[in-house]
Amino acid sequence: MTIQVVFTPAGLAKDEVAGRGVFVIDVLRATTTMCAALHHGARSIIPVASIEEAIRMGQTLGPDDLLLTGERHGKPIPGFALGNSPLEMTEAQVRGKTLVMTTTNGTGALLSAAGAAHVYVAAAANLSAAAARARQLMADGLDLVVVCAGRHGAFGLDDAYTAGRLVVETIGDRRRLDDLDDAAVAAVDLVRRYGVRWERPLGRSAAARQLDAIGMADDVVEAAKQDRYPVLPVFAERRVQVAPLG
Ligand code: MLT
Repeated sequence: MTIQVVFTPAGLAKDEVAGRGVFVIDVLRATTTMCAALHHGARSIIPVASIEEAIRMGQTLGPDDLLLTGERHGKPIPGFALGNSPLEMTEAQVRGKTLVMTTTNGTGALLSAAGAAHVYVAAAANLSAAAARARQLMADGLDLVVVCAGRHGAFGLDDAYTAGRLVVETIGDRRRLDDLDDAAVAAVDLVRRYGVRWERPLGRSAAARQLDAIGMADDVVEAAKQDRYPVLPVFAERRVQVAPLG
């Protein structure tokens, strides 16, 4: 079985994910925030590409138990109930709610993976759960693709390092490198370079520096906590929900 990493979903073709198990990473912050929301009891999350689509979806589904969430330039979207901070996804805010979410890179990355055999959400916050499912999929004979959201169609250090951590956690710091494509080897090399502490690779990323500049450095600290929100979100039929165990 093979593991492929893509550092940005730009240009990701349907046939690259078809029949494969896909893990989508936007550690700062969309996939961390999804884990936080589902861990705290959100019923589901509907990722959409644009603010307009989120508003339309909100009108179609009606206001009951529905929250519009997301960010542009890292900041909450005017008129939306919540932004894109994992710290906002408290039980009081999200329990029993459906979130319609749009973010700059993360929700688009998730939508680009639609059509895969299985699509999961991964971050530091659920690394062990994601890796356990990745091992199970490989044992079932599936090839894996780890899709990094990146930044505006380009490489993001935070996501690439997290991809490396997911690969290492899935297959060990390993010898069978021929099962990995070059991007996966490079991601594993980032883990060798930075080690197992999340703070440095996440903190050095452009995404973290942007969050720092707008007063959201606490979100970077939160996103760097491994297994903080130990759920396995699965994306199927347009919704992200907690995957059944097994
Ligand atoms: C993204 O989708 O790129 C992130 O949500 C950005 C952010 O959290 O500000």
